[in-house]
Amino acid sequence: MAMCVRPLLPHPVRLLLPLLVLEVLAPVHGGYDKTSLLRVGFYKQSCPDAEAIVREVVAKAVGDDQTVTAPLLRLHFHDCFVRGCDASVLLNSTQTSTAEKDAKPNLTLDAFDVIDAIKEKLEKKCPRTVSCADILAIAARDAVSLATKVVTQGQWRKDGNLYEVETGRRDGRVSSAKEAAAHLPDSFDGIRKLITRFASKGLGLKDLAVLSGAHALGNSHCPSLEKRLRNFTAQYDTDPTLDAAYGAMLRQQCSTPEDNQTELAMVPGSSTTFDAAYYSLVAGNKGLFHSDQALLSNGATRMLVYGYIRSEKRFLSDFGVSMVNMGRVAVLTGRQGQVRTRCAVINN
Ligand code: HEM
Repeated sequence: MAMCVRPLLPHPVRLLLPLLVLEVLAPVHGGYDKTSLLRVGFYKQSCPDAEAIVREVVAKAVGDDQTVTAPLLRLHFHDCFVRGCDASVLLNSTQTSTAEKDAKPNLTLDAFDVIDAIKEKLEKKCPRTVSCADILAIAARDAVSLATKVVTQGQWRKDGNLYEVETGRRDGRVSSAKEAAAHLPDSFDGIRKLITRFASKGLGLKDLAVLSGAHALGNSHCPSLEKRLRNFTAQYDTDPTLDAAYGAMLRQQCSTPEDNQTELAMVPGSSTTFDAAYYSLVAGNKGLFHSDQALLSNGATRMLVYGYIRSEKRFLSDFGVSMVNMGRVAVLTGRQGQVRTRCAVINN
């Protein structure tokens, strides 16, 4: 018997359905999209010099020590991936709780002193106005801009920035080491795990591929790749996705598994310059981490790796877009949270 298939929903509702589904899938926090409360130039009226003050302190720190750009960039990432971009990464542990800062993946974070110096200046100029979460976002943007040659040479944007940073975040009151350990990506993560972790923050494959390019800057320590070099799986001593000769060289540099003093450049010879050199290393199986190499295991991320090798300009412009995306993760805005007066402790 032929079945008569009737539409289950009246016509106008059927037409609206795709929109409703999109609505459900969109990253909406608490009933409305809070990211819309972030905007470029949030402090234009309340503290017109805010961005200039951050830039001045970051530029001075970079002038004194070029390697400070990497930890400033990493701080914003580690902030956003745990409880959203709410400066929870800056809070100190208390007698009753161990803060993110003291979680294992965060023990190699640095440049807290630069953030404190910025905050001190801002509190003098505009008390209780500029959040620590926004300081992290602006400082990360400034750090990466100051490390990018086309930007410092005036060939990018007129204002000397790689991208425009949104502001308007507020600071959280909670910081948990357990949450940091659970939410931060691990250097041994494979592509599926990385995709899931990024997706849980509302970030896609492109964000994953382009933000991994942050590893153009900075250094790692031996414990972050020890397992990869000597004790990978029951089947392999060394990670098969690592170039054999490169692996041998790294094993020599990391002579003991406990060595946490030796610094390994992410991109040997250019780890203070922000460019697409990282992707050439990955394409040659010379990414430092299994997670870097994992970008070759997915068709879409692999295409992006090769695309960024071909066009550094595209990498730099996509990087700015994805930094803005990351900066929107689970933000506190409006009357939520607070504006801390000292970034390491919540206000009374
Ligand atoms: C995709 C997943 C990621 C993993 C598994 C990962 C893991 C790591 C690890 C293990 C280190 C070295 C820690 C050490 O031994 O000192 C590191 C360093 C670094 N990471 Fe990532 N990371 C990831 C994504 C990102 C993102 C998205 C950013 C920024 C947007 C970033 C920025 C940095 C920077 C700049 C450094 C160098 C820090 C320094 O020199 O002080 N990473 N990362």
